[in-house]
Amino acid sequence: MGTAPAVNGRRRHLLDLDDCSRGEIESILDETGRMRDRMALQPARVPELSGKLVATVFAEASTRTRVSFEAGAKMLGADVMHQDPGTERVESLVNQGRTLQAMGVDALVVRHSASGASGLLARELERTSVVNAGDGTHAHPTQALLDLHTARERLGELQGRRLVIVGDVLHSRVARSAIWGFGRMGADVVLSGPPALMPELVPERTGGAGRDDGRVSIEPDLDRAIVGADLVMALRLQTERHQGSAVPGVREYVRRWQVNAARMSLAGPQALLMHPGPMNDMVEVDDALPYGARSLITEQVTNGIAVRMAVLRRLLGATSDGDAL
Ligand code: CP
Repeated sequence: MGTAPAVNGRRRHLLDLDDCSRGEIESILDETGRMRDRMALQPARVPELSGKLVATVFAEASTRTRVSFEAGAKMLGADVMHQDPGTERVESLVNQGRTLQAMGVDALVVRHSASGASGLLARELERTSVVNAGDGTHAHPTQALLDLHTARERLGELQGRRLVIVGDVLHSRVARSAIWGFGRMGADVVLSGPPALMPELVPERTGGAGRDDGRVSIEPDLDRAIVGADLVMALRLQTERHQGSAVPGVREYVRRWQVNAARMSLAGPQALLMHPGPMNDMVEVDDALPYGARSLITEQVTNGIAVRMAVLRRLLGATSDGDAL
């Protein structure tokens, strides 16, 4: 979550999961479960954040993240507005943030193409909470939290589980935050995909950053990486971020790294499939899988609303269990 200062023992911003303890993550996931239960009630809306103003500023396209933040904030009784950023220049984003803060915005949900844009805003704003909804290739913490919640709902304890993340890891903010989050929860993470799209692993991560953290490793050959996996997370091929030819062509990518039924059977009979979306049809995942029995993709989307409710409640001071972030 970066170096964001706390207010009365409560964290003000959510920028990444890199400085989140396992206890903090578990606490958010527990609260996400309570929000999921509440979503099933009629009426689901409660006025806990009545009088709070949440603004979304998305300088990159989004379907899931923006809508789920807005839907979650409304379910909690907050007023919500969307600010068209107009330009992707970071200076302009900071000025917009200051302006929105002066108007009394309590939480600013930001997506930007520049890595670090949300952190920059968080350092500049004295009163408004900043939530990183995806910054360049850096981080997407609420996606990682919803992935963790979805996995935990199905698998229970994540300690010792094996997560294979396959595809364009190098350009994926989803993967970076998932590596932190799943690793902190004790899962071993194996990265697979075209060698040109694999990150460099710093030595302390390969053994886990903390005592109980899972290990992170790279195995470019998916048929080897996937054996024994509990979870397989396919990533979108982000060709818009590639410089030059990072993959040998889509047909070759599909042949070597597409997740299909044969590869899922290598993983094991209980292995589950995830994809953060949006998906390139018939590229990362075979058409037969996304809505099949082993897929968590629809569940991920629904859980997105609950996790964003949990995060907004905590940052804006409406926790149900009193835990400080
Ligand atoms: N996973 C994700 O961030 O999706 P959107 O781009 O649709 O928000």
